Amino acid sequence: MHIDLTHYSYLTPLSKRIDLSEDCKNLLYLNHKEKTWEHVQQVAKVAQDLALTYSIDPQSAYICGLLHDISAIIKPEDMLGLMKENQQNIDPAEEKYPFLLHQKISALIARDYFHINDPMLLSAIVCHTTLHTSPTKLDMILFLADKIAWDQAGEATYLKELTVSLTHSLERACLTYINYLFNEGNLLYPHHDLIEAQQYLMGVTL
Ligand SMILES: [Fe+2]
Ligand SMILES: [Fe+2]
Repeated sequence: MHIDLTHYSYLTPLSKRIDLSEDCKNLLYLNHKEKTWEHVQQVAKVAQDLALTYSIDPQSAYICGLLHDISAIIKPEDMLGLMKENQQNIDPAEEKYPFLLHQKISALIARDYFHINDPMLLSAIVCHTTLHTSPTKLDMILFLADKIAWDQAGEATYLKELTVSLTHSLERACLTYINYLFNEGNLLYPHHDLIEAQQYLMGVTL
């Protein structure tokens, strides 16, 4: 399955390439997603810091942060259309809320438009909203960085508990956030991967 940005008439693609960071910024700006650029820069910085703490390549974490929401330039209905055209499995949660597909579409753009081929980086991007069973350190770092770099008004209600959990382990911090989603009634519709992630993390953090 591939993605071709020229297929979407409302998109303005890059006219020239500079480097990954500039290209990411320019593609978002050309398509009126300035807020997304603010958000992904913060996520990239937090991911880089977490990577240093947990002995992961900081540059990989930074790149994942920059590209994780690059699919903001694509309309959710087009994300669903692309998945269906390619006979991809669609979780009932994604069918109901196509925006949930943005993690998978971001990974496609990262690979096909930004030439990121490292499966570790693509994995982290592909599960940054739902996580999945047996996540890698990089998967968990990007998942957490996205939640720590809160982009709404005020402070995230889960942030204190998540920060405490993070002093124990990445696994415990991820579980803290997932439990918060399930307990606070903040879930629109539980994604299969999120349920599996919770079960896995409960097992390893006993
Ligand atoms: Fe996202
Ligand atoms: Fe994000």
